Amino acid sequence: MESSETPKQEWKADNYARHAHFVPALGAPVLELLAPRPGERILDLGCGDGVLTEKIAAAGATVVGVDAAPEMIAAAQARGLDARVCAGEKLAFASEFDAVFSNAALHWMKSAPDAVIAGVKRALKPGGRFVAEMGGHGCVAAIIVSIVATLERRGVTGAAAGIPWYFPTVNDYRARLEAAGFRVDYIELIPRPTPLPTNMAGWLELFGQPLFNRLPPSERQDAIAETVERLKPVLCDETGRWTGDYIRLRFKAHAP
Ligand code: BEZ
Repeated sequence: MESSETPKQEWKADNYARHAHFVPALGAPVLELLAPRPGERILDLGCGDGVLTEKIAAAGATVVGVDAAPEMIAAAQARGLDARVCAGEKLAFASEFDAVFSNAALHWMKSAPDAVIAGVKRALKPGGRFVAEMGGHGCVAAIIVSIVATLERRGVTGAAAGIPWYFPTVNDYRARLEAAGFRVDYIELIPRPTPLPTNMAGWLELFGQPLFNRLPPSERQDAIAETVERLKPVLCDETGRWTGDYIRLRFKAHAP
């Protein structure tokens, strides 16, 4: 395939729950940093199927969840949550939230991070806080290198340019937050080797979909198997357990 265009990720709530239930489960530290209080109005940006949105609501806050994926929003609504389909780049709220929260979603909003941050800032009341965790610089580096090697060996040109994730450094993201008018209270890159509940093939099928979909359907399973083999010496232990080389960027900022 000659095009450098990356196919879109398609989200299926059941597949996500099977291969990626660790994503909200590992969201406890960022939830703690948010420290939601009863009566607060909080926006959960990239809420997915609403597992963490539900926890924020359980703290007594009124929560609105938004996500670009209609399937995930349907799953969040099925939990009884106020969840709406909306892309992170197109937030249209004005001065109505005490806090905006986001877990494991901002790195998918690669094309216009400043539009996302500007929308968050508009959505907050003066003094409101933006508390989030996303993939940070170097996140899943081994996995990315292996996928790119597989795709290039199979004739996909410009595979590296098609990586669908934005994993910023501390300096990059701090500068964007400050340029949008935020004051940054805390920001840190946190290495977090992450045990994968199924295996590497399951992870690649779910999260690597936009990359592997650049190959003809008949080649995709072989390409995933090739990528898994290349990763085995570095991410699979002697008992067959897989660990993802995750690095998180966690931060708290406030609107003055
Ligand atoms: C993450 O949550 O850090 C992540 C998700 C998908 C691909 C890579 C990283």
